[in-house]
Amino acid sequence: MAIRVLVNGALGHMGQEVVRALQANAKFDVVGTCGRSDDLSAAIQHSQADVVVDFTNAHVVFDNSKKILAAGARPVIGTSGLLPPQIEELKNMAKAQNLGGIIAPNCSLGAILMMKYATQWIKYFPEAEIVELHHNEKLDAPSGTALRTAQIMSALREKQPASRPERVLAAGARGADVDGIHVHSVRLPGLVAHQEIIFGGADETLTVRHDSLNRRCFMPGVLLACEKAMGLKELVYGLENIID
Ligand SMILES: NC(=O)c1ccc[n+]([C@@H]2O[C@H](COP(=O)([O-])OP(=O)(O)OC[C@H]3O[C@@H](n4cnc5c(N)ncnc54)[C@H](OP(=O)(O)O)[C@@H]3O)[C@@H](O)[C@H]2O)c1
Repeated sequence: MAIRVLVNGALGHMGQEVVRALQANAKFDVVGTCGRSDDLSAAIQHSQADVVVDFTNAHVVFDNSKKILAAGARPVIGTSGLLPPQIEELKNMAKAQNLGGIIAPNCSLGAILMMKYATQWIKYFPEAEIVELHHNEKLDAPSGTALRTAQIMSALREKQPASRPERVLAAGARGADVDGIHVHSVRLPGLVAHQEIIFGGADETLTVRHDSLNRRCFMPGVLLACEKAMGLKELVYGLENIID
């Protein structure tokens, strides 16, 4: 039987791609679409959606996620900008509701592989910085992917680099400090979504870079999340935790 999916933010750039990708795959049945002026809770109830995909914006995603869980559907949250305490609250709510789901700030398989494997190199290169580059309409900075990458790297770092005195001549020159990892955010027209991790060692550097060239690259991950959400018993943060 096809998985019944409702798409929230369906008129946006990502939402439109998601609707197209779901409609092109027989495993899914798009039972509803919502935009800013629709009543999300009523739409979920009316459509009897199994899964609700959310691609809206950082201001409304927490509220939307709570509505999805309260209505008894499984959330697949692609929108970035959820804060750690909000994620914790949603996880608890999902547990109480006995619902699985996925919060996936990055659905590109290439970016996920970068997070899953490249982040482990910090064991060998404890000094590393992240540069993330996005189109100039992106609301949140750093990107959800950069935040997640920094958190994973920080958790895996066995040795803290020695601190050195620095003279910062312009505020922000060293980027944001995310759990001890510096993250630099670039916002320019012409960009889509890109990220570099630069590891520095003794007389060598190692750089890994991922480029999302079109929003279509996120679709295999979104579809995978919709499928996997059906078998999950908890709200999982990060697609890297559901791919082998
Ligand atoms: N997970 C990933 O792999 C991934 C990839 C790319 C982007 N993203 C994230 O996905 C989000 C959407 O990106 P986008 O490029 O598609 O943005 P977008 O083009 O601005 O689309 C967002 C859509 O959500 C609608 N919206 C706003 N508030 C809403 C509400 N309360 N209820 C329902 N719909 C609402 C907007 O309507 P209006 O036009 O009326 O405001 C718009 O149609 C962003 O957070 C972005 O960072 C994630």
